[in-house]
Formats: sequence, structure tokens, C-alpha cells
Amino acid sequence: MRDTAVALTAAGIDNVRLEARLLLAKASGLSVEALIAHGPESAPPPVVAALRSLTARRVQREPMAYILGEREFWGLPFKVTPAVLVPRPDSETLIEAALTLLADRHRAWRLLDLGVGSGCLLLTLLKELPQANGVGLEASHDALAVARRNAVSLGVTSRATLVQGDWRQAGWEDRLGGPFDLVVSNPPYIETAAISGLMPEVSRYEPRAALDGGPDGLDAYRTISLAGCRLVTPGGHLLMEVGQGQATEVAGIFAAAGLSPRPPWKDLGGVERVVGARH
Ligand SMILES: C[S@@+](CC[C@H](N)C(=O)[O-])C[C@H]1O[C@@H](n2cnc3c(N)ncnc32)[C@H](O)[C@@H]1O
Repeated sequence: MRDTAVALTAAGIDNVRLEARLLLAKASGLSVEALIAHGPESAPPPVVAALRSLTARRVQREPMAYILGEREFWGLPFKVTPAVLVPRPDSETLIEAALTLLADRHRAWRLLDLGVGSGCLLLTLLKELPQANGVGLEASHDALAVARRNAVSLGVTSRATLVQGDWRQAGWEDRLGGPFDLVVSNPPYIETAAISGLMPEVSRYEPRAALDGGPDGLDAYRTISLAGCRLVTPGGHLLMEVGQGQATEVAGIFAAAGLSPRPPWKDLGGVERVVGARH
């Protein structure tokens, strides 16, 4: 563990003690709690070899979530692979907003998630709303496979329909079986030119299609909002995550598409993170 922590520090990584312990847990097959309970102990050579190989990956700045194969979101375990964006704590703001709007937890709400990725938004909402049904659209075949695995492990397959499709293609919204009470999306929203300057974990490893929002980062908001009035039932809601500083422009895009924007929701860092609109 000490060797791993030294190597991670040299690679410019923070939180090295925690990461070293998580990597040792992965290498040894023991839980973090068991490692702490064991105290200092020598590791068998195969565990040492496995830890060295995991450490080498992390030193290259591969995200911990890809190395461990899992990330927690809203207290639920999600499988992740390099085909999906790593679920972010900031995106939990969208879950909070959705649960405020759909206050009656036991109604048979109809949900749509555009760009479902790992499934963290749609599947969390299906767990929280036990009578709801949801459709998840995703362009990437490999990402959709991860969402399917997560739907199975979270026990919501019977209420989740996962569809491969691309919102840049004509007529994309007609195949989804709408309209829906709530449409959510965390679309790609990074300006194309800014991607190479992001942390190496993001720029080198996360899927480009999950990041690249076009020249001004707002391509997906324009496309999705144009279909908003057809996808959202009258009185229903569209909720989209936005990047820092994008909330006002996105609210304007929603208004231009005939939707009624509401004040944005802030994340724990105080950043306006989710923009909503009513149809
Ligand atoms: C920022 S990620 C969000 C994933 C997940 N919803 C989350 O919050 O972690 C955006 C997702 O949208 C998908 N995507 C990007 N462009 C798309 C398009 N034109 N049509 C459908 N899905 C798209 C990407 O493959 C990616 O999985």
C-alpha cells in the first residue's frame, strides 16, 4: 500500500491513501473494512503483482471507477466500463429535482432519459418511483450494454426499456413511445476545444461522445429542446444537467422551443447545475 501511495503521489493524484486502499481491496478481493481490520500483514505474491498492475493503470491517470469497475451514485452501485461516463455526484442534483417535481412517489409516471450511459439517472429514478416506467435512449451500443447490466443488478428490468438511437437523426423522437411526464438528460456539454484541457482522467479516458457538446457546448440542448413539446406531456417537465455558466443560455433555448423554464437547481458546490422547463 505504501509503494502504491508513493507512486500515485508522484503521478500528481490526490487522496492517495484512500485510492491505495481501494486498489489493494480490488487486488486482494477483500473489502476495505476487512483490510482495515486485518492491520499490517504481508500480502501473498499474486496480490502484490495484481496491485502493481492496477497501480500502473492508475498512474497513467485511468479513472478509479474504470479500474474498480463500479461507482456509487445516489447510494446505489453502478457497473461502469470505459464505454460510459463515470457517474458524477453533481448529477445527483438532477435526481433531487426530479423527485421534487414528481412528488407522488407511487404514481405510474412515464420517464425518458436521453443519453442514458450507465443508466445512473433513469435507473435511480425507477428505484425511487416504484410504479414508474422508463425509456432510455443511447447512441452507443456498448454503453447500452452497461445500462442493461445495471438494470438487471438493480432489479428494474421489467420497467426499463433501453433503446439504441441518435437524437441527431430525423424523426428520432417518434420511436420512443412518448409523450412522457418527465424527460431527463445529462447530455454532452463540453465545448469541443476545451476537452483536451480537462483532467487526464476525463480527456484521455472518458468517451468523447459523452463529453463533446459541439463548438459552444450547447448542440444537444438545441436538438433535444426542439423535440421537447412532442416528448413531454402538457404539464410535464424537461430537466437537463448543464455545465458551469450554461444555465441562462439553456433556459433561453428551452423558452425559444415553447417550453416554460423554471429557476435552476444548484449542486452542492453552489453551481447552477440543472435547468428545468414545463410544457
Ligand atoms: C454526459 S453522458 C451522460 C450519461 C449518464 N446519463 C450520466 O448522467 O452519467 C451523455 C451520454 O449521451 C450519449 N449520447 C451522446 N450523443 C448522443 C446522441 N446524439 N444520441 C443519443 N445518445 C447520445 C453518450 O453516448 C453518453 O452516454
